[in-house]
Amino acid sequence: MKVVVTGANRGIGLEFVKQLSARGDEVVATARNPEAADALNALAAASEGRVSVAQLDISDAESMAAFVAGVDSVDLLLNNAGVYPRSGGIGELDFDEVERGFAVNAIAPLRLADAMLGALRAGSDAKIVNVSSQMGSIADNSSGGAYAYRGSKAALNMLTRSLAHDLRPEGIAAAVIHPGWVQTDMGGPNAMITTEESVSSMLGQIDALSPENSGSFLNWSGQDLPW
Ligand SMILES: NC(=O)c1ccc[n+]([C@@H]2O[C@H](COP(=O)([O-])OP(=O)(O)OC[C@H]3O[C@@H](n4cnc5c(N)ncnc54)[C@H](OP(=O)(O)O)[C@@H]3O)[C@@H](O)[C@H]2O)c1
Repeated sequence: MKVVVTGANRGIGLEFVKQLSARGDEVVATARNPEAADALNALAAASEGRVSVAQLDISDAESMAAFVAGVDSVDLLLNNAGVYPRSGGIGELDFDEVERGFAVNAIAPLRLADAMLGALRAGSDAKIVNVSSQMGSIADNSSGGAYAYRGSKAALNMLTRSLAHDLRPEGIAAAVIHPGWVQTDMGGPNAMITTEESVSSMLGQIDALSPENSGSFLNWSGQDLPW
C-alpha cells in the first residue's frame, strides 16, 4: 500500500510513518520543514527505501501544488496534520486564530483530497482518512469553548461525509477518525495513551475502512462516535 501522511515529523504522524513502514507499506511522509525533521529523516534513512520525505505545508497552495505534482498514485491519504489554536473564550475571541484553525484543520485536508483525486483514482481500494477529534462531535459537546478547534474539526467531519458520498461510486472510501487523547505536543504529557497505542489501534480501523462503511466517524479504539 502506498500512503501519504501529512504532519509526519512529530507526534501521531511520525508514529504512523513508523508503524506503516515497519509492516512494509510505502510511505510518502510530509513535513512543513523537512530539513529540521530529524526523527523522520532518521526513520527514512533506515527504511530501505520504504519512506520518502517530502515538503508540504498544507496551508500553502504553492507548496501543495508542488507536492501533488510529484505523486502519481496513492492508496491511502492520511490527513493527519492539525493545530489546536488558542482562540480564547467568547467575548475575547482571537479571530486570526479561529481562521487559522479552519484553514489548517478543515479547508486544507479538503484541498489536498481534491488536489490528489487523480492520484487516488490511480490507487487501488483508495481511502481518505482525516484525523479529526471527539471535540469535533456536536453531540458530544457538553462543555463549550475551544471555538476554533471544535468548529474546525466539526467542519472537517462534515466535509469528509460529503467526500464519502461523492466518491463512493468510484470505490474511494473516506472517513474521520479520533485518535484518542494522545501523549504528543498537542495532547500533552498527561494524555491517556501513547502514540504507539493510538496508531496501532487506528491502523486496524483504517484497514477495515471500505466503500461499505465509508462516511464513518471512527474512534481509535473501535466503535463509531456520535456526530
Ligand atoms: N494528541 C491528541 O490528544 C489529539 C486528540 C484528538 C485529535 N488529535 C489530532 O491528531 C492530529 C495529530 O495531532 P498530534 O497530537 O500529533 O499533534 P502535534 O504533535 O501538535 O503535531 C501536529 C503536526 O501537524 C503539523 N502541522 C501543523 N500545521 C501544519 C501545516 N500548515 N502544514 C503541514 N503540517 C502542519 C505539525 O508540523 P510542525 O512540526 O511543522 O508544526 C506537526 O507535524 C491532529 O489533526 C490533531 O488535531 C490529536
